[in-house]
Amino acid sequence: MSTTARRLDTAELEDRVKRMYQEVALEPEKEFHFETGRPLAERLGYRADELDRIPAAAIESFAGVGYFHDLAGIAEGDAVLDLGSGSGTDSFIAALATGPEGRVVGVDMTEDQLVKARRLVDDHGFTQVEFRSGYIEEPPVEAAAFDAVISNGVVNLSPDKPAVFAAAAAALRPGGRLALADIVSERQLPEGVTCDASLWAACIGGAMQRDEYRAAIESAGFTVETWRVNDAYRFVSERADNATAKYGVTSISLLATKRA
Ligand SMILES: C[S@@+](CC[C@H](N)C(=O)[O-])C[C@H]1O[C@@H](n2cnc3c(N)ncnc32)[C@H](O)[C@@H]1O
Repeated sequence: MSTTARRLDTAELEDRVKRMYQEVALEPEKEFHFETGRPLAERLGYRADELDRIPAAAIESFAGVGYFHDLAGIAEGDAVLDLGSGSGTDSFIAALATGPEGRVVGVDMTEDQLVKARRLVDDHGFTQVEFRSGYIEEPPVEAAAFDAVISNGVVNLSPDKPAVFAAAAAALRPGGRLALADIVSERQLPEGVTCDASLWAACIGGAMQRDEYRAAIESAGFTVETWRVNDAYRFVSERADNATAKYGVTSISLLATKRA
């Protein structure tokens, strides 16, 4: 466990995160500290023609922080793991690229997100997509079985980010790709922010300092190929805005490849 994990009440954090994303699944029209839904997805760079081909109910609960599918390079027949799949937007977008011959496994810990995403699989005939209950630090998947691991707005929520990157590396074949969007900070956040479970659940309190974040990915056995800042992402509450301005909290997208 990281130092942060020792200072933070991780049980309370898990409970807060689950409650927040249960609401995102069940009441997506509510106001959160962050934006949700199709307008957000389009602003971040999701293509309208692709969004039109996946379930609208998944997109209404979309709570990602950036676009990375152009970096992920998912090809027909690929196996893809989506860490923190929520209601399924990125899993379904990935499934468009893998086609029915590929497969996509989404992993999430929030029951209502899983229930919603699984219903959409059944209703919309995405036979190559499956959603599993589990933690991103220890996803219930086979080792070295995936061509790509994707994730959107989730790693920042984990109190043990090195474990998440190690799990991604373990799931990938050599040469496999990790493509994600996430929140990082320019400066180390103070304990007042990192120990505030509601700021964690809003994707701010858990933002890791960006050089440390990059180093954690490299230490897990990856080479970072692309790193870009997503200016289009913004937080919506005043409290969130203050923290982001003060500590340089930003959204990034990246591509990393697993070293052989
Ligand atoms: C910000 S939402 C993003 C969901 C989805 N990727 C999207 O773009 O809409 C974060 C999701 O990660 C899940 N999550 C957070 N921490 C997790 C963990 N440690 N293990 C598994 N799922 C987690 C939450 O349940 C929630 O569904």
